[in-house]
Amino acid sequence: MEVRSEGIQVRSDKLPAPVIPRTRLRIWFVRVCSSIVLWTCLVQLVTIGDLWHSHLISGITNRIYHIAQLPLPLPVQDGFNQSRPPLLPERNYTSNGFLRVSCNGGLNQMRAAICDMVTVARLLNLTLVVPELDKTSFWADPSNFEDIFDVKHFIDSLRDEVRIIKRLPKRVSRKHGYTQWEMPPVSWSNEKYYVQQILPLFNKYKVLHFNRTDARLTNNGLPLDLQKLRCHVNFQALKFTPQIENLGSKLIRILQEKGPFVALHLRYEMDMLAFSGCTHGCTNEEAEDLKRMRYAYPWWREKEILSEDKRSQGLCPLTPEEAALVLQALGVDRETQIYIAAGEIYGSERRLAALRAAFPHIVKKEKLLGPGELLQFQNHTSQMAALDFMVSVASNTFVPTYDGNMAKLVEGHRRYSGFKKTILLDRRKLVELLDMHQNGTLPWNGFAIAVQQTHKGRMGQPTRRKIILDKPKEEDYFYANPHECLCEVIDCDDLLGTGNSSKPP
Ligand SMILES: *[C@@H]1O[C@H](CO)[C@@H](O)[C@H](O)[C@H]1NC(C)=O
Ligand SMILES: *[C@@H]1O[C@H](CO)[C@@H](O)[C@H](O)[C@H]1NC(C)=O
Ligand SMILES: *[C@@H]1O[C@H](CO)[C@@H](O)[C@H](O)[C@H]1NC(C)=O
Ligand SMILES: *[C@@H]1O[C@H](CO)[C@@H](O)[C@H](O)[C@H]1NC(C)=O
Ligand SMILES: *[C@@H]1O[C@H](CO)[C@@H](O)[C@H](O)[C@H]1NC(C)=O
Ligand SMILES: *[C@@H]1O[C@H](CO)[C@@H](O)[C@H](O)[C@H]1NC(C)=O
Ligand SMILES: *[C@@H]1O[C@H](CO)[C@@H](O)[C@H](O)[C@H]1NC(C)=O
Repeated sequence: MEVRSEGIQVRSDKLPAPVIPRTRLRIWFVRVCSSIVLWTCLVQLVTIGDLWHSHLISGITNRIYHIAQLPLPLPVQDGFNQSRPPLLPERNYTSNGFLRVSCNGGLNQMRAAICDMVTVARLLNLTLVVPELDKTSFWADPSNFEDIFDVKHFIDSLRDEVRIIKRLPKRVSRKHGYTQWEMPPVSWSNEKYYVQQILPLFNKYKVLHFNRTDARLTNNGLPLDLQKLRCHVNFQALKFTPQIENLGSKLIRILQEKGPFVALHLRYEMDMLAFSGCTHGCTNEEAEDLKRMRYAYPWWREKEILSEDKRSQGLCPLTPEEAALVLQALGVDRETQIYIAAGEIYGSERRLAALRAAFPHIVKKEKLLGPGELLQFQNHTSQMAALDFMVSVASNTFVPTYDGNMAKLVEGHRRYSGFKKTILLDRRKLVELLDMHQNGTLPWNGFAIAVQQTHKGRMGQPTRRKIILDKPKEEDYFYANPHECLCEVIDCDDLLGTGNSSKPP
């Protein structure tokens, strides 16, 4: 499987010029040339598409004009299917059975899980049923797969790897005497587990149902073709629906028209704070509220939490006030647009005041779009998160204040789109510096220099994942840096990351 790399240089013209060591200049030169060629092709295609499109529209209006009662089959795809690539030949294999999966968690956790489950289905020669999304998680989003992802594109673009069907055929349903076996696969497993433990189950059952999917496949040590398949699903097969893509692109356009922008994944939301027990900067009342919420969720196991301990270990999301100081220290210009990629900030405007004072051009999607435009996504947290995902991937600089699934998946996508700058905050060190600055022991200049020094090698530069045997949770996450899919076009071993990095934004 060849992971295409055209994506890598798109938009490089809009980025602030990165500092590139000489050894890589040649690569960049070749890329720039090929992007010019690609760009020219694209312009041609668009022109052809437009011609075709206006033809279609005038054709349809003519027909409507002539046959007044025609039910309106609106051409929603806008000439999209003209540019759909021709169908790949199907992979010819004998299916060993059907795999049903119920993903759990938020959008980005599920996204990674979908990539893993396609890979498992491919490995075991199964027929995959389009994954079911979590409707009972904290976010309680009723969206189905096809409400978020382009399901046709998903199925078609994986035809040469694995058979994917929309629903289980009636002939294998319970009614016809087939029993399904429901189980969660063991976390962080490798291909041997699936071949040796899971595959034999299909001797007995026609259908297997994985009822949990988070982190069920190991980060490291899988065969290269499986790692590449994970990337192929993540970067090519999973596309949002045209509705989400269109609105996301509109947001990006609005932001880009006003210049470069920073996407700040300010994970300062009530669920995060209640779950993590981080109450730094909250009033006593708020801290009590958060604690009550934590106790109300039985599956959040940790109940008694000492906020300050957790914070000093670097395990708390930055507060909005802390984020303001860190962005200033990193040299982000006061006039820069800061897009807040997040839901409702805990404490709302009161807690955003310091950030807004430091950066007057703070924007959220709710403010950039008209009131009607987000209506269709309301009460659908995952669809809202998809918009933030798109904007975050496209931003000039991405700064996550906590390393959750969204932060990690966006980081991986930005590496894939040309190693765009992602500032991976060292929260443990930052908390120390912030406290010293705030109690007067570290004046501003020293603080700013220390913050910049700390993050020189943490900008999302090419590098390989950190591997820690037997501690999968502590090693680098596959989807944050799928180096198997990136380091063919770029040298990840020149360790640009450890000191020879580009300057802060
Ligand atoms: C475009 O898609 C529609 C509906 O999926 C289909 O009926 C039509 O034939 C397609 N047109 C082309 C040119 O592929
Ligand atoms: C699929 O493979 C089998 C066995 O190799 C072969 O008999 C069959 O003709 C193939 N089918 C197609 C459609 O290529
Ligand atoms: C999957 O199918 C391929 C090709 O048909 C075959 O070579 C391979 O052994 C099969 N693997 C399993 C686990 O069934
Ligand atoms: C998954 O299936 C197992 C076995 O049937 C069951 O014990 C477990 O409660 C299920 N978990 C979920 C989240 O449904
Ligand atoms: C979203 O949910 C809230 C409360 O559950 C409800 O009041 C509101 O009407 C819903 N909005 C839409 C657009 O469905
Ligand atoms: C300031 O904060 C730092 C970090 O928490 C601490 O080590 C130091 O003792 C504090 N100094 C004063 C004067 O409070
Ligand atoms: C930075 O680059 C120089 C020259 O290319 C090299 O000698 C040095 O080891 C690099 N530093 C690090 C920390 O990689």
